Amino acid sequence: MQEKPQRLDKFLTSQNIGSRREAIKLIKSGKVKIDGEISVKPDAKIMPGFTAVKVDGKFVDYQKYLYVMMNKPKGLICATEDRHMQTVLDILPEQWRRKGMFPAGRLDKDTTGLLIITDDGDFAHQMLSPKKHVYKLYKAVTERRITDNDIKKFELGIKETNTEFAPAELWEEKVGERSYAFVKIREGKFHQVKRMFEVTGNAVIELERVQIGELPLDTSLDYGECKIMTKEEKDKIFK
Ligand code: URA
Repeated sequence: MQEKPQRLDKFLTSQNIGSRREAIKLIKSGKVKIDGEISVKPDAKIMPGFTAVKVDGKFVDYQKYLYVMMNKPKGLICATEDRHMQTVLDILPEQWRRKGMFPAGRLDKDTTGLLIITDDGDFAHQMLSPKKHVYKLYKAVTERRITDNDIKKFELGIKETNTEFAPAELWEEKVGERSYAFVKIREGKFHQVKRMFEVTGNAVIELERVQIGELPLDTSLDYGECKIMTKEEKDKIFK
């Protein structure tokens, strides 16, 4: 798709250089060059990906899409807007609230952990398509400890009356003082992990997504905190 000309201040903000106000300040202070010339006009037009833009002597490496990692807190729904409930987009830091941002995949209101918010629809499709075999790893606190029989059932593929879930990996691991059940799935059916445990006569009390593909949740992020993902982090998803 052909890029459209963009205002310089908007372009810098979209490239995560700072808020709109910070971008304007940088431009007005003469720190921004367009194709080798200083530009002090925030409304100067540039062509993303074609015009060479430098800030403080460094080229801005144009990224068409934005990928934000959020440590989703409880109490928010994964939607772009809702009349009654707060959504994950409501807590997205303002500088990353670009047009077209959406949560790639859904976590339940009471589920925490790794969530990616992006404006790249193809990326989200690839990540979520069961055919792409991108696994999602969940850490669960369950009502009772898991058994070898549960592990076998998950391995064979859990069956509900009308739904079959693809084979999944289940194991138990001690983290600190507690034992957690870890579940690795490649699908993303509605309430999938909770439903799988329910078939084995167990119940999920707490659920956290801790990894997608080879990309772990950045544990330095507190609940509700976000960060821009690097290209390396994004690529880990499909490794
Ligand atoms: N499975 C669930 O049951 N809930 C989630 O939020 C994610 C996976």
